[in-house]
Amino acid sequence: MTSRALAVTGATGRLGGRVARRLAAAGVPQRLVVRDAARAPDLPGASVAVAEYGDAAAARAALDGVGTLFMVSASESPHRAAEHRSFVDAAVAAGVERIVYVSFYGAAPDATFTHARLHHETEEHLRSTGLATVMLRDNLYLDFMTALVGDDGVIRGPAGDGRVSAVAQDDIADAAVAILQDPAGHDGRVYDLTGPEELTLTEVAGILGAHLGRQVRYVEESVEEAYASRAHYGAPDWEVDAWVSTYTAIAAGEMAGVSPDVPELTGHPGTTLAELLARG
Ligand SMILES: NC(=O)c1ccc[n+]([C@@H]2O[C@H](COP(=O)([O-])OP(=O)(O)OC[C@H]3O[C@@H](n4cnc5c(N)ncnc54)[C@H](OP(=O)(O)O)[C@@H]3O)[C@@H](O)[C@H]2O)c1
Repeated sequence: MTSRALAVTGATGRLGGRVARRLAAAGVPQRLVVRDAARAPDLPGASVAVAEYGDAAAARAALDGVGTLFMVSASESPHRAAEHRSFVDAAVAAGVERIVYVSFYGAAPDATFTHARLHHETEEHLRSTGLATVMLRDNLYLDFMTALVGDDGVIRGPAGDGRVSAVAQDDIADAAVAILQDPAGHDGRVYDLTGPEELTLTEVAGILGAHLGRQVRYVEESVEEAYASRAHYGAPDWEVDAWVSTYTAIAAGEMAGVSPDVPELTGHPGTTLAELLARG
């Protein structure tokens, strides 16, 4: 009996690339489903198929013969929910048995963070297919914490004194690879992938400042101030709503809490912010 293929999306990006490289290093054959074959990483044991999530015909062809699909969520856009639905439907049509989906911490219809509502919608669609599913509900990426700091050394937002348990992409990738090497053992599971610490933004600022060797501060904004201070970017409403609700979700306690899932899946403790920064 030939086993069905393992497909990995997002391999041209940061998280999917980490997963693909780890699978290759572990000798696991995989099919990289990418938008641009020329940008697919060249990895031993990997083949390449081309599909954009929203292109149902291409996705169905790219997923032909696939048993397990590791699905990184699409880049943020107003079409993201439709792209996810289309790709999941193509997977069903192609006969995929299981989808391991990169969701978001606290995914719920009434989540404060707007993208967490989108992830809930995708999770619901996945469950409605009857396929085996594994949800990886990642907290904010620890790797992006430095991006919160403005040129003036200030982290601004309406996060109050809420806490965030951001998770390193390396730890998510380790957890994903542990699952993908024995996926049936994880069917139906919903994992909360967090870091090992929950930090206020004042604490985040202190750790970033110590690493950068300059003062970094957190300055609390009201919701109105947060919209006003981001207006000059000229970004569409849905995007500004996502930016601001990242902070209001922290204030509401929806990004807090340390889960045991990273250490239990990977066999090692999660990475702290100071450790990640020290790695360079
Ligand atoms: N938890 C968080 O803090 C957080 C923060 C930001 C984003 N995210 C989500 O996490 C995902 C992975 O993060 P990342 O850092 O790895 O992002 P990334 O480096 O931008 O990689 C995203 C990957 O997904 C692929 N992709 C995006 N939209 C697609 C579509 N419509 N159809 C097919 N492939 C598509 C990209 O392909 P191309 O190379 O062709 O673009 C790329 O390979 C993001 O896509 C986003 O949904 C989470």
